[in-house]
Amino acid sequence: MKALVLAGGKGTRLRPLTYTMAKQLIPVANRPIIHYVMDQISKVGIKDVGVIIAPETGHQIKEALAENPWEVNFSFILQEEPMGLAHAVMVAREFLEEEPFLMYLGDNLIGQTIKGFVDEFYSSRPDALILLKEVEDPRMFGVVEINSDGSVKRLIEKPKEPPSNLALVGIYLFSPLIHEAIAEIKPSFRGELEITDAIQKLLDKGGTVRSFILKHWWLDTGKKDDLLEANRVVLDEWITRSLEGEVDKNSKVVGRVSLAKGARIERSTIRGPVVIGEGTVIKDSLIGPYTSIGKNCLIEGVTLEHSVILDGARLVNIERLEDSVIGRKAVVASSGRNAKALRLMVGDDAEVLL
Ligand code: TTP
Repeated sequence: MKALVLAGGKGTRLRPLTYTMAKQLIPVANRPIIHYVMDQISKVGIKDVGVIIAPETGHQIKEALAENPWEVNFSFILQEEPMGLAHAVMVAREFLEEEPFLMYLGDNLIGQTIKGFVDEFYSSRPDALILLKEVEDPRMFGVVEINSDGSVKRLIEKPKEPPSNLALVGIYLFSPLIHEAIAEIKPSFRGELEITDAIQKLLDKGGTVRSFILKHWWLDTGKKDDLLEANRVVLDEWITRSLEGEVDKNSKVVGRVSLAKGARIERSTIRGPVVIGEGTVIKDSLIGPYTSIGKNCLIEGVTLEHSVILDGARLVNIERLEDSVIGRKAVVASSGRNAKALRLMVGDDAEVLL
């Protein structure tokens, strides 16, 4: 079996970060999202991985995967325009050959291994096995109606009146029959070749489409709040206490805090779960739970929690900063006057002076 990771797209909902950075590389608990995707793929023993890349960000994706601790064979496949998930499969047609494949959206995180999902595909051998998750408001997702035996009745993209609360998670298993279905669909009203339409077409053509329900969490990191939630969940589940950096005697580090080598804490309190990257300096600050701070940041005189701070950012004299995403090398500084609680999403290289 091969894998196809979708790491193209526009990422419009995460602008301005995605003006300069591929969405799949935004860090969650200081690791690019696509690394979690690769962990999942390598854990099920897949060795041939096609990665769909966009012309604007393809080089960044290649760089982020260059170290390749998973020891897989990457084939990078250029999709000139983000014309939809099914279009990405079309572009990868040559790479995929006549083999079944795992398709994984490069910005999706799930809280359990995909082993059970892959095993189910091997044992029941459907033409498509789709991963579903119960959601509260299915209207903004691809929604699936299933029969009592788990087979799929129909699929609808973002329905006004959802027939179920089962949403399509961005992880699919396909037999090569999906290519025939894709060849027969037309672009949707938003101009994209939708994978939902292709799976419906597969059903209409008499293919077998089965479902697998995900019990653990699923996070699609498309928007700022999704990203913060992903960061919260990943820190909560996976961070362990490890203090490789320096902590001075006037500081307190409480709970599960991961402090990288070369990072320094002075006269501050850190309450985990928190992760702090290499070379970052924190002075006279209080860092609260669910915060990820990248490499080489300076945080001075700040109360910060439930936020994601990217590499090289500088935060100075902020009374309270929460629920925020701060881009690379961004500066947020205050003179100290009129400082109140702030909620920000600041792009790379932006500067906010308060
Ligand atoms: P989406 O989140 O649906 O699309 P997007 O990345 O363009 O984001 P936005 O809606 O904010 O503009 O894409 C899901 C994943 O699939 C994401 O990792 C990008 C990838 N993708 C492609 O590789 N090619 C495509 O044509 C599309 C639409 C998405």
